[in-house]
Amino acid sequence: MKTYYGSLCSLFYDISKPTPPADELNFYMSFVNKDMSILEPMCGSGRFMMEFINEEYNIDGFDISEEMIARFQEKLHYNGILQCCEFSAFRTEKLYDFIFIAAGSFSLITDHEQVLSYLTQLKNWLQPDGKIALTVFTDVEYRGGQMTEVIDAPRSVQEQNIEIVLTGTTSYNPANGVSHSKMTYDLFENGIKTKSEDEDFFIKYYHPNEFETFVAKAGLHIENAFIDYNKTPFTGQDSEAVVYVLTK
Ligand SMILES: C[S@@+](CC[C@H](N)C(=O)[O-])C[C@H]1O[C@@H](n2cnc3c(N)ncnc32)[C@H](O)[C@@H]1O
Repeated sequence: MKTYYGSLCSLFYDISKPTPPADELNFYMSFVNKDMSILEPMCGSGRFMMEFINEEYNIDGFDISEEMIARFQEKLHYNGILQCCEFSAFRTEKLYDFIFIAAGSFSLITDHEQVLSYLTQLKNWLQPDGKIALTVFTDVEYRGGQMTEVIDAPRSVQEQNIEIVLTGTTSYNPANGVSHSKMTYDLFENGIKTKSEDEDFFIKYYHPNEFETFVAKAGLHIENAFIDYNKTPFTGQDSEAVVYVLTK
């Protein structure tokens, strides 16, 4: 049975990415002060949110994965808003000054109707002068190519007596810019395999100008676009990812 950010995937994520990259965290921090209300959709197990919480920022979050939220709660019992839900089910009375989606997670949304409706939701949760920061992946590494299928190089993480080995294959469809990875996480405890988990991952790689079209349709505006978290401007050059700052 296929799961989505199930228990082994969530554990693998936490062991391999325990803390947020400093440049990305500093980028988000550069937009906020302690009077602002902040929202992190797709917050996962909270590595970014915790940095804000520790510094007493006013931040809420939500994530669709029960396992990721459970890992968050294990690390910190949070009294603020932390919901296990997807975009359309998130309930809040507040409007936010700053909304960010970290780690390129918006590219996990591959259905075009969902992309548009999620961007519209983000706009509806925003204060009139609020800002949204999110990153999407571009199709630059695949551009001009055929449909492909590759065996991914195996990866593993270790902690104390456990090891999780990740194997899989990834196919890419240039027509819609979506890759599909069929992944298996195998858990070894003291060298003995004790559990396996299958996951399907889809990632959207945007064609040139494609994301801009969704932004305009959602009634949002691009205030800035960067090719990295050091705010190097995006001017249409080849870049694997683009970091957008959006306004109403
Ligand atoms: C790559 S992880 C990033 C987590 C976190 N932002 C971080 O950097 O550690 C992506 C997260 O998006 C969540 N997610 C995927 N689709 C979602 C959806 N439609 N609604 C809410 N969360 C979703 C997953 O459960 C997962 O925790």
